[in-house]
Amino acid sequence: MESASPGEGALVPRSWWDSDAPPVLLDGIWRFHLSPDAAGLTPDFQAPAFDDRQWDLLPVPSMWQLAGLPEAPRYSPPAYTNVIYPFPVDPPLVPDANPTGEYRVSFAGPRGWPAGRRVLRFDGVDSHATVWLNGTLLGWSTGSRLAVEFDVTDAMREGENVLAVRVRQWSAASYLEDQDMWWVSGIFRSVSVLCRPSGAPADVFVHSDFDAHSGTGTLTVEATDTDGRAIAGRLDFPGLGITGVDSRKAHSVTGVRPWTAEDPVLYRGTLTTDAEIIELRVGFRRVELRGGLLRVNDVPLLLRGVNRHEWNPVTGRTISIETMRQDVALMKQHNINAVRTSHYPPDRRFLDLCDEWGLWVIDECDLETHGFSLNGWRNNPSDDPAWQPALLDRMRRTVERDKNHPSVIMWSLGNESGVGRNLSAMAQWVKSRDPSRLVHYEGDWDSKDVDVYSRMYASVDEVEQIGLRTEKAAATEELDAHRRSLPFLLCEYAHAMGNGPGGLGEYQHLYQTYPRLQGGFVWEWLDQAIVSRRAHGVDFYAYGGDFGEPVHDGNFIADGLLFPDRTASPGLLEFKKVIAPVRLIIDTTARSLQVDNGYDFLDTSGLNLSWVIEDAGVVLGRGTMATPVVAAGESVTVDWPAELVAAAALPTADQGVTGLPVERWVTVTAGLAHEHAWASSGHEIAWAQARVAEAEAELAVEVEAAVTGSTRGIAGQLRRSGPIGPVSIDTRTGMLTAIGDVAVHDARVTCWRAPTDNDHGIPHDQRGTGRSMDTHWRAMGLDRLQHKLIDLTNGDQESTAVYHVGPAGSDAHALVSYRWARTDPAEASLEMTVEPPPQWTTMPRIGLALQLPGELQQVDWFGLGPGEAYPDTATAVRIGRYAAALEDLQTPYVFPQENGNRRGVRWVEITDGRTGFALIGKPIIDITLRPWSSHSLSEARHPHELVPDGLLHLDVDAALAGVGTASCGPGILPVYEVTARPVTLTVAFRAVEI
Ligand code: GAL
Repeated sequence: MESASPGEGALVPRSWWDSDAPPVLLDGIWRFHLSPDAAGLTPDFQAPAFDDRQWDLLPVPSMWQLAGLPEAPRYSPPAYTNVIYPFPVDPPLVPDANPTGEYRVSFAGPRGWPAGRRVLRFDGVDSHATVWLNGTLLGWSTGSRLAVEFDVTDAMREGENVLAVRVRQWSAASYLEDQDMWWVSGIFRSVSVLCRPSGAPADVFVHSDFDAHSGTGTLTVEATDTDGRAIAGRLDFPGLGITGVDSRKAHSVTGVRPWTAEDPVLYRGTLTTDAEIIELRVGFRRVELRGGLLRVNDVPLLLRGVNRHEWNPVTGRTISIETMRQDVALMKQHNINAVRTSHYPPDRRFLDLCDEWGLWVIDECDLETHGFSLNGWRNNPSDDPAWQPALLDRMRRTVERDKNHPSVIMWSLGNESGVGRNLSAMAQWVKSRDPSRLVHYEGDWDSKDVDVYSRMYASVDEVEQIGLRTEKAAATEELDAHRRSLPFLLCEYAHAMGNGPGGLGEYQHLYQTYPRLQGGFVWEWLDQAIVSRRAHGVDFYAYGGDFGEPVHDGNFIADGLLFPDRTASPGLLEFKKVIAPVRLIIDTTARSLQVDNGYDFLDTSGLNLSWVIEDAGVVLGRGTMATPVVAAGESVTVDWPAELVAAAALPTADQGVTGLPVERWVTVTAGLAHEHAWASSGHEIAWAQARVAEAEAELAVEVEAAVTGSTRGIAGQLRRSGPIGPVSIDTRTGMLTAIGDVAVHDARVTCWRAPTDNDHGIPHDQRGTGRSMDTHWRAMGLDRLQHKLIDLTNGDQESTAVYHVGPAGSDAHALVSYRWARTDPAEASLEMTVEPPPQWTTMPRIGLALQLPGELQQVDWFGLGPGEAYPDTATAVRIGRYAAALEDLQTPYVFPQENGNRRGVRWVEITDGRTGFALIGKPIIDITLRPWSSHSLSEARHPHELVPDGLLHLDVDAALAGVGTASCGPGILPVYEVTARPVTLTVAFRAVEI
């Protein structure tokens, strides 16, 4: 347990296949006992006669720390750390307090199996397993996310068998498994017994190649016995015209359809040996590094990827095939074409799905030693010869299991394990065993052992330098020359923690500009939270610290594009739009559409185009248009169909409302022409919008004759509240008190937002000041501004108030003026000008915050939507007319923070269903609406701590900062920052009755 050795007694690793010698699954309900330490271990529990009737029942596969949840962990609790080991770094020793699960199960030995070896297989045990069958010690194993097999030919009986497994949470191997994730343990993947019939292959290696120039595929199936000697077999691939040929020979087939992630053609066939019929699925493709580029079938790839951990908020790293299908389908639906299996090989069935539905895969070895970095990388296993067998064993088990998956195009040595000789040895072994794929590893920035230069979280500026090949030199001339010859990948970028990631488009632009930049993988796919229950039955998503861990990394574990329940976050929708493989450009002057095909292989014949044209949401016409067949990488421009041209010329549609501005927009959509396993036909892949100049007939703004809320008659008296058009202004303060009948409690300038995870982060980039945005903003006191009236003028139908606005203890204050005027009898406008003091630098927002009656819950707007958007996350939203209830405008981030901004708003109606008001941007505004204040939002640690306070909090912004990705990576790009400068917000109000 405290040895650097990878284990004892296991069989040589091999690939997985389905055959007529199928496994018998031992998954089910097992007996379980947890001991908190070595002293509590059960003597002789492995003996078949041991009476386990008093033990608990636990499903296998599962993770014991999640048992008992959501109420409370029944055994030891889950714990979350990112880099830091949750135990002293004293390799290979681990703490005495070592939760240890003892498992027992009886099973009937299958009858009628042919002669041959019997094998017991574990697909994943976290982290150290000692295994007995019928009291016989089979061995022990480490490598939590790696399959292991034991020979049980002698130990297994045809009658009843008793399998006993002791699983320790901590072992020397824990030093190799410091991935940023929950520390959870147990037999978490399937367990099975198999018969390997005498004479059946010990391993099968499918070599399939594709020559893009001749269109010829080559297939060799290498079946070997336990000594590595070739085994004769017969290949049958009806779809390839191969019948009964010798599997040992290379077979060339002309005119094969190659495998790509965009068109994942698999040929199904069999390898028949004397002892076994093996099912094979072959994809023909050639992965190579040529001309400094990663190519498949001769075409350089652009990877639009994500990092995927295996996680389910209820079952942890035990996940079902349905969840795997859901993941692959969601990736495909969102235009993702690549996945890095961070940071370990996934359940093997996930790779089957990647083969079938099409994803490029970087298959990563189960290795991370990041915690050694906190101790100056002293004793890092990556460079200590004592650990070399363990590291090689891990690499070998990764490659051997997964080598027959066409989706796997790169092997990754692991993650964040520093540098060292053992990593070099792993790379060398991989290259000799499987030269048909590339080797990836990010931790060595000199790229000594690898075929791609890979980095994480590099800034846009640095990535551009790399694209231009003007980056800083590597350590030596030789290394530099090697690295400069390599393509570049961001194996992690765009940290999707909380609100964000901001600035995806800038990276995508670089990838599409510089051939050397072959894309990247967003960190990460899913928020890895755990469903937990508070008193009174409130379920919530727990993160680090919620289980009382003394050392933890809080909500850094909730940083995915999917929320824990696998619903898409705004970040995923943004990513989908930014990486859309087809770009549509609408030219409203030429009445044409340009179709840029950004697929690497496919032409556009798999897509259908459709259009709709609207006046502020009122549809003037819709239809389809012929899709030009555009080859991969090409661009074609076509004219609008006559129906669209005609619809664009129609007079302005009647909106049924008065006084609200109208714009005409055309939207063109590219949807799937056919049904796929992962999406139905019509599923949207790409879209574009453009504003069309309106027809001559401008919207007639009906000016109501009646003057509402006239102030005449009380002129000359001191008025406490004076109407200006439809609004009432406190004549002592100059502040808004009502809009029509709607009371306004407070309406003042705001320069604060509840910090996002990214606002809390310290940017990694060169511009960074070593402080988070939140720290800057609080240092300026933007979270605690006080207001002092300096000047007030109440005129007839207008009012101007001037305030000094600054925080306690500071002589820096903004000069804020509120100028109210009647625009027409039904409308009052506000011009709020904010002149920040020179001491203020960068700000989250400059806007007006209003507190309104909580009954106003219905929101109807014309602007960007339907989802939230910030300046650097505003690609996926589109112009339209939207309606939502207040609660649906909140984005449920696992850690509460600023969210829900609706951007580009032309006007919004806010009502209780009958009455309320309209707010009109002059010309456009950002708005957020919540049932609690930004200050309450910034105090809460979990969504259930947020309680509506009976008010509607409306923020109307003239300037709003982007979100960036400083939770891990660069901060807000300068173009998306709000630098302190004079800003004017101009809006108008109308009372509304429905
Ligand atoms: C990377 C690491 C990931 C994750 C991420 C931050 O450094 O490889 O595992 O920790 O940062 O969420």
